[in-house]
Amino acid sequence: MSAEMAAFFRLHRGLPREGPGCDSDVAWAVEQAGLRDFKRVLDAGSGPGGDVAALRAVAPEAEIVAIDNHTPFIDDLKTRFSDDAGVIGYVGDMMAAQGPFELIWCAGAIYFVGVTEALAGWRDALASGGAVAFSQACLFRPDPPAAVDALFEGYPVTDVAGIAAQVAAAGYELLAARPVSDAAWEAYYQPMEARIAALRPGADAALTQVLDEADREIATWRAHARDFGYLLCVARPR
Ligand SMILES: C[S@@+](CC[C@H](N)C(=O)[O-])C[C@H]1O[C@@H](n2cnc3c(N)ncnc32)[C@H](O)[C@@H]1O
Repeated sequence: MSAEMAAFFRLHRGLPREGPGCDSDVAWAVEQAGLRDFKRVLDAGSGPGGDVAALRAVAPEAEIVAIDNHTPFIDDLKTRFSDDAGVIGYVGDMMAAQGPFELIWCAGAIYFVGVTEALAGWRDALASGGAVAFSQACLFRPDPPAAVDALFEGYPVTDVAGIAAQVAAAGYELLAARPVSDAAWEAYYQPMEARIAALRPGADAALTQVLDEADREIATWRAHARDFGYLLCVARPR
């Protein structure tokens, strides 16, 4: 692992979640999809399992399959939910998950594959009537400030209409979409800010760069939270 990657994971390992999200996001998505009876739920790109408790709350009897391709996150998830035999953590590719699932939940991870590609790839893994809920970075105004542009440099971020078009291109109906709440961002950033403060003293060059970038990201979101964020989408195959 490169020094940069090692520094990245020094900041991120052990955080409760790896992207914005909160329990009410999961409850809202399930309500929008009209889902009630769950046998199996997939948490695709689960990270350390920040949404597993919320998924368990909406699907008390279900098997919850959490997949992430970063082994330490799945190790942490297994420790965190060791008292729940219905939570199965796998290291692997979230696109290779074997269905059927009534709900595929994918918070902040679908961009690794692409919205259209992931939705198309998950079609056969969905149970009849099942739905995919995902969150994806999104511009909420057409002319974002320079700091927001800089944050997304090299990353193909689009707006609500752009994400809707990506969903349609996969042959899915977009049932509902709303911005992820400020509380969801704070649930991600506040523990990270505490970690940054703890790691600053004595940080080497690689770690300092990672901490600076994280500080910049947090400051940009705090300054421009109405201009960009994550869009939480609920979609079902047509
Ligand atoms: C931004 S994090 C979000 C994690 C978690 N859903 C959350 O909200 O806390 C994205 C996660 O996707 C994982 N990931 C990326 N591509 C993946 C793939 N093809 N299969 C499985 N996991 C993947 C990363 O390792 C990372 O943990």
